[in-house]
Amino acid sequence: MRIPFIAGNWKMFKNRAEAEAFALEFKDLYQGTDIRAAICAPFTDLDTLVKLFEGTGIGVGAQNVHFEEEGAFTGEVSVRMLEDIGVDYCIVGHSERRQYFAETNETVNLKLKKLLASSIRPIMCCGESLEQRDSGVLFDFVKTQLEEGLAGISADDVKRVVIAYEPIWAIGTGRTATPEQAEEMCAFIRKTLIEMYDEETADEIIIQYGGSVKPANASEIMNQDEIDGALVGGASLKAADFMQIIDF
Ligand code: 13P
Repeated sequence: MRIPFIAGNWKMFKNRAEAEAFALEFKDLYQGTDIRAAICAPFTDLDTLVKLFEGTGIGVGAQNVHFEEEGAFTGEVSVRMLEDIGVDYCIVGHSERRQYFAETNETVNLKLKKLLASSIRPIMCCGESLEQRDSGVLFDFVKTQLEEGLAGISADDVKRVVIAYEPIWAIGTGRTATPEQAEEMCAFIRKTLIEMYDEETADEIIIQYGGSVKPANASEIMNQDEIDGALVGGASLKAADFMQIIDF
């Protein structure tokens, strides 16, 4: 039985005061909910959110991490640093990081392995561009992202990985995948996980859809069999909107 999991991805939005205001409003709205929720915030907001969400059941996630233990890597943050302040999740391989910051399936794989050796659960993003969809290579492309991203990761460990299917053409564009398109790819992802691991393992893995999820379309997306949650960008910035999505 997979428990629905809705995560917000704030991207590069909200300073500390704004994060604090959100957290105070959101934790009241969230009280008594049995859907799992988390906010993935900029590094500078993480400590604030961890403290304000303590005891609420709301998780806190980072949006990136480095795969080395420590060292001369100017500008980077390690898994241990995130673990130390009480972070629960970390997004890996978001398409914006692949596009602007040279994230590859290989670095995704190294980051996943480092996170899986910690208490932090990775949220691994995958998804095709519009060009790839239109030319029909979407399934091959996502399969390669999964095979290379998860290479060498055991069945036990992969159960802790949340997979987020985010078609690039649906991110921040207002153009949501139809529930059928999202379901088709999420079912394909689960089938690929069965091939890579086994049915029991694949059955436990949470697969989220991301890309222009908002209160108006959350329920039709969340009601698909193979979609267990959502990774929400823009609509996670307002506590009331995010809560409406969680209440799908
Ligand atoms: P939007 O919900 O703003 O389209 O962003 C989706 C996303 O990239 C979440 O990681």
